[in-house]
Amino acid sequence: MDFYSGLFSVGSLKVLLFSIISYFVYVHLLKPALHNIYIVIHYHGFHYQPKSFLLGHVKQIWPNFPLPIEMKTVAGNLYEKMLKIIGPNPSRSLSVLWISIFPVVFASGHEVVEKILHRRNLKRPHFYKFLGIGDGLIASEPELWKVRRKLIEPFFTTKKMRDHAKHMYEEVESFGQQLDGEVGKPVDLVHQIHTSTLNIILKTSASIPLEDSIEDKERFVELVNTVERNAVKRAANPLYQIDWMFKLFKFSQVYYRAINSMIEVINKIFRRRKQLLKYSPSNEPENQDLVDLLEGKMEEKGLLDELITLIGAGHDTTAVALRWLLFHLGNHLDVQEKLYQEVIQFFPDDTPVDDMDTINQCNYLEHCVKEALRLNPSVAGASRVLEEDIMVHDERLIKGSMVSVSALATHHDPNVYPNPTKFDPDRWNPENGSKIPKTAWIPFGYGPRICIGWRYAMLELKIYAAQIIRKLSLRSTRPHGSIPMLYEVTFQPSLPLEIIMTPRNNNQSNL
Ligand code: HEM
Repeated sequence: MDFYSGLFSVGSLKVLLFSIISYFVYVHLLKPALHNIYIVIHYHGFHYQPKSFLLGHVKQIWPNFPLPIEMKTVAGNLYEKMLKIIGPNPSRSLSVLWISIFPVVFASGHEVVEKILHRRNLKRPHFYKFLGIGDGLIASEPELWKVRRKLIEPFFTTKKMRDHAKHMYEEVESFGQQLDGEVGKPVDLVHQIHTSTLNIILKTSASIPLEDSIEDKERFVELVNTVERNAVKRAANPLYQIDWMFKLFKFSQVYYRAINSMIEVINKIFRRRKQLLKYSPSNEPENQDLVDLLEGKMEEKGLLDELITLIGAGHDTTAVALRWLLFHLGNHLDVQEKLYQEVIQFFPDDTPVDDMDTINQCNYLEHCVKEALRLNPSVAGASRVLEEDIMVHDERLIKGSMVSVSALATHHDPNVYPNPTKFDPDRWNPENGSKIPKTAWIPFGYGPRICIGWRYAMLELKIYAAQIIRKLSLRSTRPHGSIPMLYEVTFQPSLPLEIIMTPRNNNQSNL
C-alpha cells in the first residue's frame, strides 16, 4: 500500500507529466525549430547571398513586395533568378534561392542527379501542396505515396499504352481537322492544344468521350492555369508559407476559391462518367480506365485527389511541350523535312499513327521530341527534402533541406551538350547519344519519384508531331532563341509561339 501511494504521489505525477510534456515539446517543436535555425545558418555560408537577410531574394523576384503581385513580372523574374543562380558553369552549380528566411537549394549537373533524387529522398517540399491536389501522387508524403504509386502504375503498362495510343490518335486526327480554319496565318495553338491534350487524358483516365463535356473541359484548362499561377504567387511570398497565417490574407480566399472550383469540375466529370457507364459498363480489361483501377482500393477523396493530379499533370505539361516542339520544327526546316521523310516512310498516306511498335521505330521523331524537351523542359526540375546529409560539388547539403535539381541548367551543360542553345536532334543519334550520361536529360525527373506518365507523354508527343508534320508544313514567325520563358509551375513562353501552317500536297517537300 505504501509502495503504491509513494508511486502515485502528487509530486511524482507532476514530475512524470512534466517529463512527458517536455519530451513532446522537444521532439515536435524545439528540435525541428533548432534544426531549421541550423539550416538557415548553414546556407548563409553559400555564395550568391541576397542583400537582405529577412527578405532574401523576395525583392528581386517581386520588386514591389508586399504590394499586389504582378504575375508576369514574378514569373519572368523567377526564371531570370534561376538562370543567375545557375551561374557561369551549369555543370557544377549549387546555389540558394531565399524566400525570406526559407532557403531552397538549387543544384544542377548530371553528377548530382542521382545523389539528390535518390530512393532514400522520397519527401517533397511543402510548396507542392500549394497546387491544391490534396494527397495526390505529386504531393503525397512518402508512406502514402508508396501505396498509391503501386496502385496507379498498372495504368501505364506496355499493354495499356497500346490502348492509350489508339485513343490518342483518335483525338489527334480530329484535332488535325480542327486546324483547317487556322492554316495560312500566324497562330499560337495554345487553346486548341491544351483542350486536345485534356481530351486525351480524360478519355483514358475517366472514359469521358472526346467530344463530351466541352464546357467543363474548357473551364478546367482555365482553372488549372489560375491555380498554377496562384501557387507561384503563394510560393513567392514568405507570409503565405504557413497555412494558418496565409488564411489571414484576402488572397487566400481567391486562392482557395480557384482550387474549390477545380475540384468541383472534377467532381462533375466524375459524376458524368458514372452516368455514361450506367449504359455501357467497362468490364473488359482493355476498357478499364484509371477510375476502374482505383475504385474500391481507396476512399473517394483519395481517388479524386489522384484523378485531379493525373488530369492536371497529364495535359498541361504535354501541351506546352508540344507547342515548343512545333515552334522548333517551324524554325528548323531541314529538321522538319528529315522528320517528314521518316514519318511518311513509316506511316504513308493516311495510315493511322496508333501502333506503338511502329511509332517506336521512328528514331528521328524520338530525337526531335527529346531535343525539344531538353531545350524547353515543361517543368523547372525535381525537388526533394533530404533525408540525410550529402556532399554535392564539395559542399555539404544537410538533412531536412529543400533541394531542387534544375532540369534547365542540367540540359544546358556545355560539357555534355556542345553549343547547348542549338536545336540539334542529331545529338541523340546512336553515336552522339551514347556519350550523353543518362542523368543529363531529366525533363521527367529521375529516381523512384520520376514522372509516372513519362512514357505516356512521349507517346502522345510523338503521335501529335507525326500527324501534324505529315499533313502540314510549319514556319515559325519568331526566330529561335527569341522567346524567354516564364515560370508558372510549368515553363510558359513569354510571347506567343506563333507558327504558320501550310497544307502539304502529297509527298511534296516543304523546303
Ligand atoms: C511532357 C510532359 C511531362 C513532363 C515534362 C512531366 C514532368 C514531370 C516532372 C519533372 C515530375 C517530377 C519528377 C521528380 O520529382 O523526379 C513529374 C511528376 C509527375 N508527373 Fe509528369 N510530366 C509530364 C507528363 C505527365 C503525364 C502525361 C502524366 C500523367 C498522365 C504525369 C503525371 C505525373 C505525376 C502523377 C507525377 C508525380 C510522380 C510521383 O511523385 O510519384 N506527367 N512530371
